[in-house]
Amino acid sequence: MTAAVPDLGPLDIRQIIQISFLLAASTILFFSSLPSLKSRFVTYGSRATSVNNTEGPRPEHDLPKSHTRSSWSEAVLDCVTNLQVPHGWFLHFYVVSVLCSLFWGIQIIFRTSLLVVVCENAGAGRTLSMNQLALMWTLMAVQGLRRLVESILLGKSSASKMWFVHWILGVLFYAAMSIAVWIEGAETLLRSQSPLKDITITAPSIRTMIGLPLFLLASGIQNDCHTYLASLPKYTLPDHPIFHTMVCPHYAAESIIYLSLAILGAPEGAWMNRTVFTALVFVACNLAITASTTKEWYMAKFGREKVEYRWKMIPFVF
Ligand SMILES: NC(=O)c1ccc[n+]([C@@H]2O[C@H](COP(=O)([O-])OP(=O)(O)OC[C@H]3O[C@@H](n4cnc5c(N)ncnc54)[C@H](OP(=O)(O)O)[C@@H]3O)[C@@H](O)[C@H]2O)c1
Repeated sequence: MTAAVPDLGPLDIRQIIQISFLLAASTILFFSSLPSLKSRFVTYGSRATSVNNTEGPRPEHDLPKSHTRSSWSEAVLDCVTNLQVPHGWFLHFYVVSVLCSLFWGIQIIFRTSLLVVVCENAGAGRTLSMNQLALMWTLMAVQGLRRLVESILLGKSSASKMWFVHWILGVLFYAAMSIAVWIEGAETLLRSQSPLKDITITAPSIRTMIGLPLFLLASGIQNDCHTYLASLPKYTLPDHPIFHTMVCPHYAAESIIYLSLAILGAPEGAWMNRTVFTALVFVACNLAITASTTKEWYMAKFGREKVEYRWKMIPFVF
């Protein structure tokens, strides 16, 4: 029985995902280029708390001049800005990530009619091997699960917040990632009658020998950073050696995780998996902006001289 194929117009699913990641990255860059929008809608977590108080939201005297209320339009903006949710709701991202990974894992294993519809609309191009598909799915599930466990075990009560649109974007990002990691292998899935049986044991390719250690190393570093941050009183200038070099080593690790996935998911003859690469662009832009804000906030709170020589996120580059 063949499933009905909905008409998605001129765009296929991988293009829709790629364009969405790039649009999200451009939107965040645009918002960050305008100080009044940046402080209202982009800054979140510790950076949005007062530099004078130990915890709690930023009082008005701490905000940039453009942020003090002067007109009805600013009052409307204030209302929208005040739609905040706890920073701790990052946990939901990883719940969504793990559930979506499980959902698509089941679709793939049982080759359901939903999977066939998605694969038939995924777009043509070079495909991935079944071994690559299995590895990509597994690593995304591992990443979501690790962050979920860390968020549960290390999470502490905090008054810090994020704008509700961040929360929606985060949920959508992780839902999209659970498809992005395998969508370039749609043709392989369509050809296979039993995906699990088509997984074979072979010698690792060069791409696996580069990408897998990168993924594992970056995951370990990120775990160390989160364990260390969770051990600090709110808020303290991080003193761990890796934080001496970079203000946000956990953001560098996150970007390396997506870089390793882009390498591991590269189709035969390509260097990168295009769909995962666009996700990496989004992640890197997003985190670079937050790393910059973190550095500014640390300088204002703990003194310029203690922070100015630290890189934001990438040693010797940024
Ligand atoms: N894939 C993506 O697009 C994306 C986007 C954003 C983040 N992430 C990843 O998600 C993870 C969390 O990101 P995040 O932006 O939430 O990190 P973050 O702002 O550095 O916060 C992480 C945790 O550490 C605490 N913390 C941070 N700085 C501290 C300090 N100086 N003293 C004491 N506690 C401190 C925070 O407390 P509070 O809760 O009190 O703020 C929070 O609990 C990171 O690994 C990041 O790479 C991914």
